[in-house]
Amino acid sequence: MARDLAIDLGTANTLVYARDGGIVLNEPTVIAVNEKTQAVLAMGHDAWQMIGRTPASIVAVRPLRKGAITDFDITQRMIRLLLKRAGVSRFNRPRVVICVPSAITEVERRAVEEAARRAGAADPYLIHQPMAAAIGAGLPIHEPLGNMIVDVGGGTSETAVISLGGIVALQAIRVGSFDIDAAIQTYVRRDYGIAIGERTAEEIKLAIGTAYPMDDAVKAEVRGRDLMTGLPKTVILSPDEVRAAIEEQVNAIVDSVVLCLGQAPPELAQDLIVQGIHLVGGGGMLRGLDRRLHEETRIPVHLVDAPLECVVLGAGKVLESFESLKVLFMGAER
Ligand SMILES: Nc1ncnc2c1ncn2[C@@H]1O[C@H](COP(=O)(O)OP(=O)(O)OP(=O)(O)O)[C@@H](O)[C@H]1O
Ligand SMILES: [Mg+2]
Repeated sequence: MARDLAIDLGTANTLVYARDGGIVLNEPTVIAVNEKTQAVLAMGHDAWQMIGRTPASIVAVRPLRKGAITDFDITQRMIRLLLKRAGVSRFNRPRVVICVPSAITEVERRAVEEAARRAGAADPYLIHQPMAAAIGAGLPIHEPLGNMIVDVGGGTSETAVISLGGIVALQAIRVGSFDIDAAIQTYVRRDYGIAIGERTAEEIKLAIGTAYPMDDAVKAEVRGRDLMTGLPKTVILSPDEVRAAIEEQVNAIVDSVVLCLGQAPPELAQDLIVQGIHLVGGGGMLRGLDRRLHEETRIPVHLVDAPLECVVLGAGKVLESFESLKVLFMGAER
């Protein structure tokens, strides 16, 4: 018997939750593809491990980076790989819950459902990511009360106000933590004439990236390749200059939260002053982002306990209490 599964196929990380088993897979959304045949050879950690140990025809890529879940072919292949890893075969077709971006269109939604079906899921159910996140964070989503979720992921930032089990206001932008990495890369290239890889840029972000001035201003030593000489070169970066370099991206995220607040009905906006904003997603862990959001909205901001797992844990809770929570799936209202 295959266990029912919940899948959060994120642009940065893929998580799978199995009913009665908790999180059974948590890996970077990376696939290794044979460039000649376009066949997907591996995903996640395995895909990383193949790098440098394979013929030149094989490359490792983040397939969802730009296209999100709308790339039917990739989505289908990824889901198939995930189901296979979770022990699903043609003979045991489990119930599968897939977390999708809240701004998904009807056409995209059908594509994901079809992809999941072809990949072996008997009954694919879709749930909006902010809804899953709100459940994962333990918010009282069934009450007539404003609950706000801000999910800053790798490729997207979504803000939603939820009340009575439905999304009341929504803002989704295609700016996420990967864009912050890219901004750091651009800055170092332009101002220091040094090329750094995206993983180095992410390391800089994790080490000294901030969205608000901090007291402990540790600096970071960065090694890259000098664009003029082609030789290795080291520079020292300060948190202040990195904050300035990523300002545009951070502002875009903060602005979308403010915009979403403006869309919420006044009564619900009032509730939020008490309930606060719940920050989830890996990008939500950027130091000082909670503080910055508080400064601009005057609403308390809480970073949830497990920002990276919150969405899949919420979808998992729906699996565990399927009968009582199935009304939360997309299309359940019809
Ligand atoms: N402590 C941290 N500070 C800042 N950023 C972080 C931290 N930890 C992880 N991140 C960033 O979070 C991002 C991944 O977040 P997450 O796993 O929530 O994205 P995702 O769900 O895959 O993407 P999306 O929801 O946009 O599809 C990465 O870009 C990573 O660099
Ligand atoms: Mg996500």
